[in-house]
Amino acid sequence: MKLIVAVAKNWAIGYQGDLLFNLPDDMSFFKETTINKVVVMGRKTLLSFPNGRPLKNRVNIILTTDKDFKEEDCIVVNSFNELFEELKKYNEDDIFVIGGGKVYNDLYPYCSEAYITKVDAIVNADTYLHNFDDDKGWLLTYASELHENNGLKFTFNTYKNKDVRNYTSDDVRR
Ligand SMILES: NC(=O)c1ccc[n+]([C@@H]2O[C@H](COP(=O)([O-])OP(=O)(O)OC[C@H]3O[C@@H](n4cnc5c(N)ncnc54)[C@H](OP(=O)(O)O)[C@@H]3O)[C@@H](O)[C@H]2O)c1
Repeated sequence: MKLIVAVAKNWAIGYQGDLLFNLPDDMSFFKETTINKVVVMGRKTLLSFPNGRPLKNRVNIILTTDKDFKEEDCIVVNSFNELFEELKKYNEDDIFVIGGGKVYNDLYPYCSEAYITKVDAIVNADTYLHNFDDDKGWLLTYASELHENNGLKFTFNTYKNKDVRNYTSDDVRR
């Protein structure tokens, strides 16, 4: 399983239920990377999409504790236990954690790689990602050249997890 995210300089990722930046090149990268794959997200991230609708041409898995929650074209799971059971159906390399803050920060130990778009800006935020640069368990293995959209500079980065937690074995259940 992998993680894909865009962060500000201080690892901020969201404000009042929305993204912090509008970067067309990053959106294209996100789409190319996740198309025809499996995306895992929290209910609040689904709600942040236009009309609260899932992403097209992807298997959308939504985490919520609300047992009555239903949305067309979505697979709804009520716990990590249920999520991990569902994920056994797919190839690990085809699964992407796509947010938001709560889901990223609980699931990153189970991810083998993180695709992190780093934006050279600091903006008002209320949701933050774990700082992968301060985590010795994660190695930066790729950093792109500088890109620029709408006056904002950013790079595409890949981090690898040196010690991936296994979600397919039964001892991770909680
Ligand atoms: N920068 C980026 O790349 C990026 C990407 C995605 C999202 N975001 C931003 O992140 C923010 C949203 O993040 P967030 O932390 O507020 O919410 P979130 O992670 O999207 O969703 C949290 C919700 O997911 C459900 N959930 C999480 N863990 C669960 C578990 N173990 N079992 C069952 N349900 C679980 C719960 O739903 P219930 O309350 O229904 O129980 C919880 O309230 C927004 O600002 C969004 O724009 C940024």
